Amino acid sequence: MEQSLNIQWYPGHMTKTRRQMEEQIKKVDAVCELLDARIPQSSRNPDLAVLCGAKPRLVILNRCDLADALETERWAAFFQKEGASVLLTDAKTGKGTNAFAPAVRALLKDKLKAYEEKGQVGRVLRLMVAGIPNVGKSTFINRIAGRRAAKAENRPGVTRAGQWVPLGNGLELLDTPGILWPKFEDETVGLHLAFTGAVKDSVLDIETLGCCLAALLASRYPDAMKATYRLKEIPAREEGEGEIAWGLRILEDCGRKRGCLVSGGEIDTERASKILIDEFRAGKLGRITLEAAP
Ligand code: G4P
Repeated sequence: MEQSLNIQWYPGHMTKTRRQMEEQIKKVDAVCELLDARIPQSSRNPDLAVLCGAKPRLVILNRCDLADALETERWAAFFQKEGASVLLTDAKTGKGTNAFAPAVRALLKDKLKAYEEKGQVGRVLRLMVAGIPNVGKSTFINRIAGRRAAKAENRPGVTRAGQWVPLGNGLELLDTPGILWPKFEDETVGLHLAFTGAVKDSVLDIETLGCCLAALLASRYPDAMKATYRLKEIPAREEGEGEIAWGLRILEDCGRKRGCLVSGGEIDTERASKILIDEFRAGKLGRITLEAAP
């Protein structure tokens, strides 16, 4: 799977990125880790926790507008249990972003208290935003910092002279986010990143991707699949049937309903795959979380 990923990250590059991130983290009081609320596990790079060490972390579950609200609550509880503070946002509309500054102050209350005791009133708190490409870092930064922040370059390891952007409320943000590579530890992670569009380069051919997504959605959100594609029933998975084979049968049913036919009456499953993937990404099946909280 890893070899089929058309992404130019190689060990030297990763080591450099890691070192740069380490340097940046030293300069901040807290790290804000942006995750995709639909795939909190797969959009996370566990190396960040290691790089952060004891530094306080704020987990931001972004794209909440597209995720299942109940699952998002469960994920929030999970990250809180791990010791992180959690913020739920939709950076596109700005929903939840007003709670950012209060959340940071709550996270760093001991530090603020220590500053106060030392008479260092007005001392700013420094922060950085980190996350994998396409998770919404630029959108989020623009929300909280306005036009003052620079546009992020979407490649891990890309640095500029780190500038501090004052947020006007005792907080300062590193103008460029820390960009982490996703962690393709297993096939599922690669698939989930592809379903959500986090990895633009295709992990698998579109048809296989569509079959895998159809099977996953039919398992986790059968009602949404039935309603969106007007299916009476989801075909039951047969004993010993592989996931892709089952997904293909579901996809054929969806394709039939959407008139994806080729001459001879066969279903154009490639077109059906594109429709399913596009509609899932656009939230047309409703609010969906692909990964259940542990
Ligand atoms: P990055 O810096 O981490 O690489 O991500 P970026 O902000 O560029 O965001 C990637 C895409 O995700 C953008 O869409 C952005 O609008 C969208 N996005 C970011 N946060 C949210 C969110 O909370 N909810 C939703 N629904 N979308 C979000 P795009 O397709 O590149 O552009 P456009 O659709 O905004 O025109």
